[in-house]
Amino acid sequence: MDNIVSLAKRRGFVYPASDIYGGLANSWDYGPMGALMKENIKNEWIKEFVSSRDDMILIDSAIIQNSSVWDASGHLEKFTDPMLECSKCHKRFRADNLIEDVLGIDVDGRTSLEIDTIIQNNNIKCPVCGGKLSEVKNFNLMFNTKLGPVDVSSDTVYLRPETCQGIFTNFDNILKSTRLHLPFGVAQIGKSFRNEITPGNFIFRTLEFEQMEIEYFTKEENADENFNYWLDLFKKWYIKIGIKKENLKEVELTKEQRAHYSKRTVDLYFNFPFGFKELQSFANRADYDLKSHSEKSKKKLHYFDTDTNKNIVPFVIEPSVGLGRLFLALLSNGYREEKVLNDTRVVLSLSSRIAPYQLAIFPLVSKDKDMKDISYNLYTDLRKDYRCSYDDIGAIGKRYRRQDEIGTPLCITVDNDSLKDNAVTVRDRDTMEQKRVSIDNIRDYVDKCFL
Ligand code: GAP
Repeated sequence: MDNIVSLAKRRGFVYPASDIYGGLANSWDYGPMGALMKENIKNEWIKEFVSSRDDMILIDSAIIQNSSVWDASGHLEKFTDPMLECSKCHKRFRADNLIEDVLGIDVDGRTSLEIDTIIQNNNIKCPVCGGKLSEVKNFNLMFNTKLGPVDVSSDTVYLRPETCQGIFTNFDNILKSTRLHLPFGVAQIGKSFRNEITPGNFIFRTLEFEQMEIEYFTKEENADENFNYWLDLFKKWYIKIGIKKENLKEVELTKEQRAHYSKRTVDLYFNFPFGFKELQSFANRADYDLKSHSEKSKKKLHYFDTDTNKNIVPFVIEPSVGLGRLFLALLSNGYREEKVLNDTRVVLSLSSRIAPYQLAIFPLVSKDKDMKDISYNLYTDLRKDYRCSYDDIGAIGKRYRRQDEIGTPLCITVDNDSLKDNAVTVRDRDTMEQKRVSIDNIRDYVDKCFL
């Protein structure tokens, strides 16, 4: 993990947020490589699950919504973690994590009173200074702020802890402004915020993160089938974008472990450097959200079923993944170090769909004007169709290593012979194999490599 964090900073994927001020817990910035890679992941997700399908649309709802949204969704009451504070050093801990660390017991689903009893009976003390711990209190994970200039409680608004509520509240608007028929899905990518105090493991758990969520509306009788369909579809997509099959596993959650809205949840775990942990959750939210919003808003959120001529409240299947978490999975999945002669080569094996750059183009000799002209012209031509980088600084070996570390699948080098034979050397990141390819055929060659 340390090596991945170090590579991420060195090569401009991820920097600690507010670095010059000592950083901020669980907060990170994405640098130039990271920003490009995030865009590529989002584009692939949209291509796969929205633009290539007839039954999906994309929306972009507001981060700050009317507070009634969070009342109806259950987040005001139930989106809490059981917390403790040390009476001596005033550090705060999540009671469930502390019990798991000290006693190895999973307390998911227990009430705060039960958790408190376990802490007291086992005389658990502050893990930092040994001080006495406070009673367990439920701590809401939503960040709140005030609307307008006057600080009165009625103006409290919340930063959304999940993007999907904007889909449920717009259900009727979406039906009226589109021609969708069940089953159909609404996708959304956007920032969510959670006041996480547990250590984040780099970008695994952060205060703000982008979620890529799909709410797939279906008739109740087809919900189970659609649940399995989406789970299967995502597993295939992960393989398509380069994740190794053996790095994924499914975990079915018990009733006690599931969120308040869920009838069934399966988490897809990824083998992170710190062990198998949740990458994505799949939930059958049934008709919980549409019904709650309907009751609270007094607006009808239902669908007219032309098969039965009745209004129904659809069930919803939700595949939801954090973009940063998937980003970390792809970095860990692709990172490797290997011995080359007396040196260690760091390689990031990213799929050409995801890598910040797909091609890097170099002149072999930086100072040779002819080589530079040919390679720069080739670069400007190829970047019309591919994500390209151009580099004419330093020794060629160092330029290759830099591209290996940022995951560029192919490097194209223009050399002395290129001036005569109109061909270039194409080097493969993973095998380091070099092939001579005519400039006229370069697109065909690249397309075959990227299949
Ligand atoms: N709308 C459903 C929902 O939000 P969740 O299991 O709480 O369900 C879905 O979150 C996904 O969002 C998780 O599987 C994870 O990938 C990501 N996620 C949740 N909290 C996160 C955090 N603090 N930092 C980064 N990603 C997070």
